[in-house]
Amino acid sequence: MSRLIVKPTARLAGEVTVPGDKSITHRAILLAALADGPTVIRGYLPADDCLRSLAAVEALGVTVVKEALPAGRQASPLPQLRIEGKGAEALREPASLLDLGNSGTSLRLLTGLLAGQPFVTVLTGDASLRRRPMRRVIEPLQRMGAEIFAWGGGERAPVVVQGKRPLKAIDVALPVASAQLKSALLLAALSAKGTTRITEPARSRDHTERMLPQFGATLTVDAAGVSLAGPQRLRGARIDVPADLSSAAFLLVAATLVKSSEIRLPSVGVNPTRTGLLELLASMGATIGTERPREVSGEPVADLTARPASLRGVTAAGSQIVAMIDEFPILCVAAAVARGETLVKDAQELRVKESDRIAVMAKELRKLGVGIDELPDGVRIAGGARLRGAVCDSHGDHRIAMALAVAGLAAEGETVINDVQCIETSFPGFVEAFRRVGADITLAAD
Ligand code: S3P
Repeated sequence: MSRLIVKPTARLAGEVTVPGDKSITHRAILLAALADGPTVIRGYLPADDCLRSLAAVEALGVTVVKEALPAGRQASPLPQLRIEGKGAEALREPASLLDLGNSGTSLRLLTGLLAGQPFVTVLTGDASLRRRPMRRVIEPLQRMGAEIFAWGGGERAPVVVQGKRPLKAIDVALPVASAQLKSALLLAALSAKGTTRITEPARSRDHTERMLPQFGATLTVDAAGVSLAGPQRLRGARIDVPADLSSAAFLLVAATLVKSSEIRLPSVGVNPTRTGLLELLASMGATIGTERPREVSGEPVADLTARPASLRGVTAAGSQIVAMIDEFPILCVAAAVARGETLVKDAQELRVKESDRIAVMAKELRKLGVGIDELPDGVRIAGGARLRGAVCDSHGDHRIAMALAVAGLAAEGETVINDVQCIETSFPGFVEAFRRVGADITLAAD
């Protein structure tokens, strides 16, 4: 098991090329597998989670070529994928079960994609993935006509999918704002007869809605939800993947907390369904700059800069939570040192992420000297903490590991974070990126 050793750092400065967006990479891989003709995905995220989606489409008979474009303005070569799609009918029953590791997005989206394929697949993953809720995905897909079974009386992976073609279109009101659930149903809707209409209680990330037209699909998006008239064929596309704001968030908060810092992050995705943390940090007093706003492959992108600021506490609730769902661990770190109390509520979904992020952040931040109360749907953080280095645990959750590493940079003394292999699921090169801007972080193997 590997661990991170983090020491207080006086200054973070420089430019970092943050790896590609995880959500967008998954979607590009899956849509490419359904499309007719080649798709090129530039700047994809070559991390464990996305590689699970990639291995799954290969197991379904799709040819994938991994390439790398020579380093241009960025420090290292840009990873590129070429996926030779031959249409949805060319997909084949895999020879073995699909192991999706830690990747919730692979599991949910593939369940939707496979619901429209007339063969049997078994999807499974690691212990954390096998604890995550699946009924919310399975039930509407069963209504569309797929036969699906799951462990625990239909609650969790392993999941067995006997797909049907064509599926029946349905009208569905999602019980939670979940982009994984919405995207699974959109993938199924592509092979359903009639118009599938999906409404959600708050707008979750809309990468699937933005990417489908790049592959030639048509769909209607309005204030309440999205409709897709099936069946529809996709054609291969070229997708440029922006840097992942959820990974950039660790550098942005680090530069805000460590005095005299200045960090620049080029070409980061700033889709408004994802920028909840940027808005909360702005209302806390942070000075994060957004430059050169532009659109790439249907997604808003900008260059971000961060400098130190003294923060004040904030309340985060309702739709703000949906737009920062993955940034809760790093928001807690910012809130811990901010002046005054921070309240996070309406965030019960955090209990069923890669770990129970409410319980885990409360437990680990207390070790660093933070006053934090766990609430059923969030946390109350006292603020104004003088962080003290301690020995912490990631609980196998990548975003917990990285958030605690940032806390360690702003703490007195040494912080050790155990079990950090999980960082590879979303941010390969995390340690190198932080070291390049001057962070005193070392990876040690036992
Ligand atoms: C994701 C959606 C979110 C998010 C996850 C990625 C996606 O999950 O937490 O990291 O790519 O659609 P939910 O849909 O369960 O909220």
